[in-house]
Formats: sequence, structure tokens, C-alpha cells
Amino acid sequence: MINKNYLSLSESYIFEKLKRDAASFRAGNPQCVLYDLSIGDVCGPLPECAADALAASSLEMKNKNTFRGYGPAEGYSDLREAICGYYRRRGVSLELDEVFVTDGTKPAVFDFLSLFSGVNSLVPEPTYPVFAEASLMHGFGVNRCFFDDGSPHTPENAHIPRDPIGAPYLIFLCSPNNPDGYALSRSELASWVDHAEKTGSLILFDAAYERFITSADVPHSVFELMGSRKLAVEFGSFSKFAGFTGLRCGWCVVPRELRVDNYSLNSLFRRALCTSSNGVSYPSQRAALGVLCEQGLSECSAFADYFRGNSRILADAFARISRGITGGENSPYLWVRTPRGVGGDEFAEILLRAAHVLVTPSSGFGRHDGEHFRVSCLCDRETAKNAAESVLNNAEKLLI
Ligand code: MLT
Repeated sequence: MINKNYLSLSESYIFEKLKRDAASFRAGNPQCVLYDLSIGDVCGPLPECAADALAASSLEMKNKNTFRGYGPAEGYSDLREAICGYYRRRGVSLELDEVFVTDGTKPAVFDFLSLFSGVNSLVPEPTYPVFAEASLMHGFGVNRCFFDDGSPHTPENAHIPRDPIGAPYLIFLCSPNNPDGYALSRSELASWVDHAEKTGSLILFDAAYERFITSADVPHSVFELMGSRKLAVEFGSFSKFAGFTGLRCGWCVVPRELRVDNYSLNSLFRRALCTSSNGVSYPSQRAALGVLCEQGLSECSAFADYFRGNSRILADAFARISRGITGGENSPYLWVRTPRGVGGDEFAEILLRAAHVLVTPSSGFGRHDGEHFRVSCLCDRETAKNAAESVLNNAEKLLI
């Protein structure tokens, strides 16, 4: 009776476990302040344009004449038009019916995977745990390929198996990558597109951190690459972009020419959504529309700059006790290598006890080398400063 695929998951989702760890630390140490740099949750507030639109649309629900019931499963057309406009700024042209409003990357990935059966996923690691877990829950094979920390992520240096056993794949790419902040350059992403074409694979591109990109050579969308429209879908999210982790709104782009076994994935995805969803709430969609005006976008850039400031403060502190740090430039995460001889899980525990700083060990992002931990810089400035100070003040204990 039970879906046995679910039994292959670990006992807890990593961020649920970390929330429990934070609660138990607070309960056991009421005199201490905990600096929680684990889950990548933003500190807010919402950009003003989004907050105003949210308030106005909530009031519309109070009035019989402006009340909204079910909206379109794929989202209101003015928001989808604004998302198309956002892509046009980068020279990417999309049709309105290629854009689906979602309530975030997780549910969109789930709905999208439901279009497949008997397939293998290719999951470069370390990466967002949802890709492998969602694949397992759908009964797919999961092939992992490893990103070596610090070296460029290209098919040539073995991040894609040379002999692609198990292809065609659903290839999950997250760029800038959660957790190590690595952002694929145009030529690296082009290699993945070539690889997908050669192996008949499909790229599922997670662009949740695109607003943090500062490097000129890093594409913001897989659709900036020639030939990608027939082999990629893209997931976007307002969560980290505009502080929507609590509000929920994102999007998924499924190009019309994308076909598998001669079926249109755009039509199948639309069909699946109509059954699985009644759309994202009207106020969330109005708030998202508020983000996509000039003022909203400039507020979002300031939001990303603020977190970049946190990254600098935290990177300076962690540099004192680690064997190397990546990330922070194009993403709100630092990927920190533990001091010699200490594993990621063990060091996260030491950091919590000695400096009261909670981070996510690399074991949460797959079967990586186990020698890293992720620091989320999405906290407020005071937390970043205090956490950095606590790391520095306790450096001796941390280096033992
Ligand atoms: C993260 O911290 O990486 C995620 O945003 C948390 C999640 O989506 O579960």
C-alpha cells in the first residue's frame, strides 16, 4: 500500500532537523543567543512595492466587487507578462503560455517530475537536497556527479561522467549553486547544454539565486544559451530574490518546443498543474507583480547588496578558522572548508557549542567530501556581525 520510494529518504529533511537543533539549543541554553546561519531564510522586510501591492490586494478581497475566487492554475496573465518582460531585459524572448506561476521551486519540481517515469536523474553534488530527494520519491534512479570545491565545474573535469551510463537523464543544475555559491560561466553552461543534447537529456535549471549574480560572464538564465529551448526548463523564485520565503511565489518556464517521446512537456505540465493546483494566492501574485517594476527591482538589488555585505563580514571571520571559502560573490552562501582533520558534522557541532553559531554541514547536500559547511548570509546585519565576532572570539577553541 505504502509508496516504498519514500522509504529511501533519510529520516528528516535537513532543514527540518536544523530547526529542531536550534529549538533544542535555545531550550537547553536560555542564557545564550543563538546565531542561526543554517537555513537560507531571508530576514525581510518585503520590498515596498511588493508590500503595498500585498496590502491593497488583501483589501480587495474584503469587497464583494473586487473579491477574487479561483485564479488560473498557471497564474494571472499580467504577472506572467511581467515575468516575460523580466527575461526580455536579458535578451530572452518567451511566449506568455511558456510561463507558469508557482508557489516556489520545491512544488514546481515535484509537479514537473510527475510527467516522467522510469528515468534517471543526474545530480551534481553538493547541491540543494530537494533534487535527489524528489527524484527518489518519484522512483527515479539518482546518479550523482561531484563538484570538486574550488575547481571549475565543466564536463571536462569529470563533473559529468565521461561514459554517461544511465543517460538520458534529467540533469539538475543550480546556478549560482546552493550550497557552494559556484556560478556556471557561459562556456561551462554551454558544455552542459551540449552534453544534454548529445545524450538526449533534459536540463532542469534552478535560477533561484540569479539576482545575486555579479560576474559579467555568468548567465542569469539557461535560455541565454543557444539551443537550450528544446532541452531545458527553468525554475525561478521570488523567495531569495525579494523576500518571499513566507509569502510564496515563483515561476517555471517550459518552452513550447520541448518534447519528450514526441509529447509536448508544456501541454503536459499545464494539464498536470490544472489537476494538482488552483494557482498561487491572488495577494502573493499581486505582490510579485509589484516586485517586477523598476522601483521593485532596484529594491531587490539593494536587498542582494545587503546580504553581500553580510557575506564579506562572515567570510572575514570564517577565513581565520578554515582551510578555504568559496561563494559569497554570486550567492548569499559561503561554503567553508573545515579545519584539518575535522568533518563537517563534527565541526558544525563544535561551532554551535563554542560560538553558538548554527550552520549546515556538507552532509546535508549529498554525499560530498564531508569536510565543508554552509553559512547562510541571508540574516540581518546585526546577526552577521555578532556571529562573526563570536567566531573570532572563540577562534582558539574552534581550531582545536
Ligand atoms: C536552503 O536553505 O537551502 C533552502 O532555501 C531551504 C529549503 O528550501 O528547504
